Amino acid sequence: MNYVIILAGGVGQRMHNTGMPKQFLSIFQKPIIIYTLEKFDNCKEIDGIVVVCNSAWIDYMNELINKFSIKKVIEVVSGGKDRQGSLKNGISILEKNNINDEDLVLIHDAVRPLVQPNIIMENIRIANKYGNAVTVHPVIESVVVSDNDIAKFEDFKKRDDTYSLTAPQTFKMKVLNEIYLNKKEINSEIPILDSALLYSYFGNDIHLVKESNKNIKVTTPEDYYILKAMLELEENKFVLGV
Ligand code: CTP
Repeated sequence: MNYVIILAGGVGQRMHNTGMPKQFLSIFQKPIIIYTLEKFDNCKEIDGIVVVCNSAWIDYMNELINKFSIKKVIEVVSGGKDRQGSLKNGISILEKNNINDEDLVLIHDAVRPLVQPNIIMENIRIANKYGNAVTVHPVIESVVVSDNDIAKFEDFKKRDDTYSLTAPQTFKMKVLNEIYLNKKEINSEIPILDSALLYSYFGNDIHLVKESNKNIKVTTPEDYYILKAMLELEENKFVLGV
């Protein structure tokens, strides 16, 4: 069986709108998080959804789930103080529901509504085969790594081999249990912001699912307007032939 944890525990500070977290902002009369939930609710390979939500917004989230007839939600649970904390809360709910060690758990951001069905399916296929799958997007510009304002030739990366991590990230339940619930010691120079980093920190290979479409994460006010245009394009893509 395949489950998804939708992370909606953030408040969206960089969005600079007071009050409503960005995942609840509406575009064409539908909240961003509902576009995201529909992608997984409509995927026949997904069996259950856990939504991790800022505690002040749980009742509102449940109202939206009813209003937009999202069918597969198992539970809406409160978020943690950071994204990783929220994820742990989501994993605990799956643990409580006794999901199998071999079952897959997809981890997705509420504010990435443009994820494509084929990418969800490919995550499931690759994670079934290798135990994990992490969605990446090829970078468009050349990349240079520098911790000051100077870069040498060797600091540049070959663009064809450079990707940014997007979502979903998918793991077998036993892997998530191992890396999150069994509290291993972490002493890393770079911040461990997501599951792929954490899993690879413990010496494991992650398997990449390459996507070519825009799967933007709504972070700033500009992103809201980009998403609005992208949703309009998605709606009209057959008409426009793209
Ligand atoms: N998230 C979460 N729990 C947190 C923080 C973030 O579940 N404590 C979720 C967000 O709701 C979002 C996703 O993680 O869907 C990606 O995080 P980000 O874009 O950084 O969201 P925010 O933390 O809400 O944004 P900001 O950093 O601007 O406050």
